[in-house]
Amino acid sequence: MEQTFIMIKPDGVQRGLVGEIISRFEKKGFTLKGLKFITVDRPFAEKHYADLSAKPFFNGLVEYIISGPVVAMVWEGKHVVTTGRKIIGATNPAESAPGTIRGDYAIDIGRNVIHGSDAVESAQKEIALWFPEGIAEWQSSLH
Ligand code: CMP
Repeated sequence: MEQTFIMIKPDGVQRGLVGEIISRFEKKGFTLKGLKFITVDRPFAEKHYADLSAKPFFNGLVEYIISGPVVAMVWEGKHVVTTGRKIIGATNPAESAPGTIRGDYAIDIGRNVIHGSDAVESAQKEIALWFPEGIAEWQSSLH
């Protein structure tokens, strides 16, 4: 079954959006497979965003991600990568539709509340990075 990596960023945690965000994924029917509340250091954040290291906003992005605890999660379900991105909304909150997480809760691309893997391959890489101990198997009765 397909899995994706979802991270509630420091602004999402600080603003008390953890429950609301988890609720949206649960109500859609996806299954929570892993969750950790964690503050990451600079080398770890740089590794997570390695593909963006040449971007002018890279340092600011890393500073933002290490500025406080995040909630790192693995969600599972049919088409969860693409559907998860739809639930999250466009990267730039100025373009994300109302009803999406960013459309409802963010206005600044540099404080966009949540991250979701953009493809199955990046999901596998990100899950391996954030959950090196592996993901325990359990079967939801929903599937
Ligand atoms: P995310 O889904 O985590 O993937 C890469 C992140 O880079 C993105 O969300 C934004 O937080 C950040 N990002 C992308 N473009 C910009 C930008 N122009 N300025 C600042 N941050 C950006």
